[in-house]
Amino acid sequence: MCGIVGYTGPKEAYPVIIKGLKRLEYRGYDSAGIALLDGSLKVYKKKGRVSDLEDEVVGKDLHGHTGIGHTRWATHGEPSDANAHPHRSSTGKLAMIHNGIIENYAQLKKDLINKGYQFKSDTDTEVLLNFIEEIKENNHCGLEEAVRVALKRVTGAYVILLIDAEEPDTIIAARKGSPLVIGIGKGEHFLGSDASPMLEYTKEVVYVNDYELAIVRPDELILKNLGNEKITPYVQKLDIELAAIEKSGYDHFMLKEIFEQPQTIFDCLRGRLDTLGGTITMSGIQQYADQIMKANRIVMIACGTSWHAGLVAEYIFEELCRINVEVEYASEFRYRNPVIQPGDVIIAISQSGETADTLVAIENAKAKGAIILGVVNVVGSSIARASHGGAYTHAGPEIGVASTKAFTAQLAVLTMIALKIAHDKGTIDQDRYMRLLAELAEVPSKVEKVLKTKDKIRDLAEKYKDARDFLYLGRGFNFPVALEGALKLKEISYIHAEGYPAAEMKHGPIALVDENLPVVVVATKDTYHHKVVSNIQEIKARKGKVIALITEGDTATAALCDDVIIVPEADEILAPMISVVPLQLLAYYTGVAKGYDVDKPRNLAKSVTVE
Ligand code: F6R
Repeated sequence: MCGIVGYTGPKEAYPVIIKGLKRLEYRGYDSAGIALLDGSLKVYKKKGRVSDLEDEVVGKDLHGHTGIGHTRWATHGEPSDANAHPHRSSTGKLAMIHNGIIENYAQLKKDLINKGYQFKSDTDTEVLLNFIEEIKENNHCGLEEAVRVALKRVTGAYVILLIDAEEPDTIIAARKGSPLVIGIGKGEHFLGSDASPMLEYTKEVVYVNDYELAIVRPDELILKNLGNEKITPYVQKLDIELAAIEKSGYDHFMLKEIFEQPQTIFDCLRGRLDTLGGTITMSGIQQYADQIMKANRIVMIACGTSWHAGLVAEYIFEELCRINVEVEYASEFRYRNPVIQPGDVIIAISQSGETADTLVAIENAKAKGAIILGVVNVVGSSIARASHGGAYTHAGPEIGVASTKAFTAQLAVLTMIALKIAHDKGTIDQDRYMRLLAELAEVPSKVEKVLKTKDKIRDLAEKYKDARDFLYLGRGFNFPVALEGALKLKEISYIHAEGYPAAEMKHGPIALVDENLPVVVVATKDTYHHKVVSNIQEIKARKGKVIALITEGDTATAALCDDVIIVPEADEILAPMISVVPLQLLAYYTGVAKGYDVDKPRNLAKSVTVE
C-alpha cells in the first residue's frame, strides 16, 4: 500500500517519477505528490490520482535531477492535500515519503509538540520526519545519521525516502516491513516499491532488506544496517519485460490479466509438469518433500483471494495426500498463540509476497520451528525470502487491484505440490496420477474455451447489474470458488455478495431468497452435483434467480436455471481453476456496466503492507 518512487542521476527527475507513480498507482490512489531537489527543495502534492497531480503542477518549476514521489493509500489522516506526501520538515529543508505505519507516532508527536513543533497534517509520516529533523539539528549530524538514530526509536513498518536541501543528489532510504527495490543504472539510481518504475532503464536491481538503510547518489549506492555497518548489495537481474506491465490494448489490467490465464497457467506448469514421464519437478519443494510427506498437518496461511486458494488446496491435499490441512487467515493466526508442533509445515500463499499479516504470521511460525514454504508470485519479495523453500507462481506482474491470474496460478502450483507428495507418498494410484497430470496440462486450453463465453457473461452482467445483493453457492472443491466469485463482485461492482457452501444455505441465507436475489451456483459435474441441483430447486421454489455454471452437455440442470454459463468438463480437483474464470468475468463486466474504475476500486489498494 502506497507507492514510492525515487530518482537521482543526469535525467530530469520529474518525468521519471511521474511515470513511475502511474505504474505504482495500483498501490493506492488517495493522493499523489513529488519533491524535487534543484538547489532548493520543491514539493507539489494533490489529493486524488497522479493525473490530478499532473494538472496541479502545470506551469510550475519542475527542474531537478533528484526527486521522490508518492501515491497514497490513506492510513493516518483522510485523503487531502495536506495529508498527501511528500511532507516537509519544520525548517522546510527535508522532504520525506513513507509507506507503512509508525505505531508509536502518538507519543513521538506529543514529545515534539512539547518542544514547540507544529504539524500541518494528521499523518504519522510528518511526525517521523520532524523527529528525524530534531535529531539532525540537536546532534549536528548529517541526514543519514539522523535517520539511523530515529529508526532505532520507531516501532511499526516503513519504507521511507528522504531528501535534504543541504545534501544535493542524495536520497536516503530505509525499510522495515514494506518493499523497496533500487535499480542500478549508468550514473543513476532508481527507487521503487517494486521494479515497475525502472523497467525501461535498467534490469539490475537490489532488493533492500528489513533494517537496512541506503545512501543513494548518482554514482554511488551504499547499503548499511542500522548499526552503521556496510553491507554488500546483492544485485539481481530482473526478468520482467515492459509489455508485462502495460495494458496491451485491453480496456483494463483486470481484463488483460483474466485473459492472460491460459498463458500464465501454462507458464506455471512449464518445465515442472512432465505428463509423459509422469513427473513433477519443483526444486524449491523437492528438498522439503520428505518433511511434507511426514507432516502431521499442513497449515495454509494467506489473506483474501490467496486464502481462497488455500481453501481449495485444503480439499486437494486432504483428498490426494491424506494429510490434515488447516487454512488460516494470516491476520488471525499472527495474533493467536497457535500450537506449532514438530513436523508442522506452513504454506504461505501470496501474490505480492509483501502482505504484512502473512509475513509476520510466517515469521512467528518459523520462530516456533515450523518449515515455511512460500507459494508466491513476486520474485524476490519479502515472503519469498522469509520462506525456507517454495515455488513461484510465474503469473507475471498482476496490476489490477482485484486478484485474478494470481489465483489460478496459485491453484496450479498447489495442485502440483499435492500431486507430487501424493505420488511420493503412495496415496494416489498410478492411473489416477497419470490421468490428473494429463488433465492438468489441458487446463490452459479449457480456460481459453471459457474465455470465449465472454459476450454471454457481459450480457448477464448487464441483466443483473442493478441487483442489491448476490448469493454465490458451491460445494466441495468449488465452495471456495463461490467465496472468490462473491469477493470479486464486491470489490469491483460494490454489490453486496456472499459466498456459501451450497448446503449451508438452508441454515440461514435461504431467508434472503426472493425474486430479486440472483444466486450464482457453481453446479458443474462432480461428486456433489446432484446435491447442488437440489439446492437449485430449493432456490427456484422460492422464486430466486439462478445463474448456474454447468458442465457442457448438462441440459437437465440448464432447464432448471434462469441463466447458465457453460464450462468444459474437468476432474473436480482441477475444476476450480476453470470455474473461477467466468466469475471473474461476471464481476469485471458488472463493474464496467456500473461505470466503475475496475482497476482501482474504491478504498482498496494492492499489496496490503499495513495491518
Ligand atoms: C482480492 C485481493 C486481495 C488479496 C489479498 C492478499 O482480489 O486482491 O484479497 O488477495 O490482499 O494479497 P497477497 O496475495 O498479495 O498476499
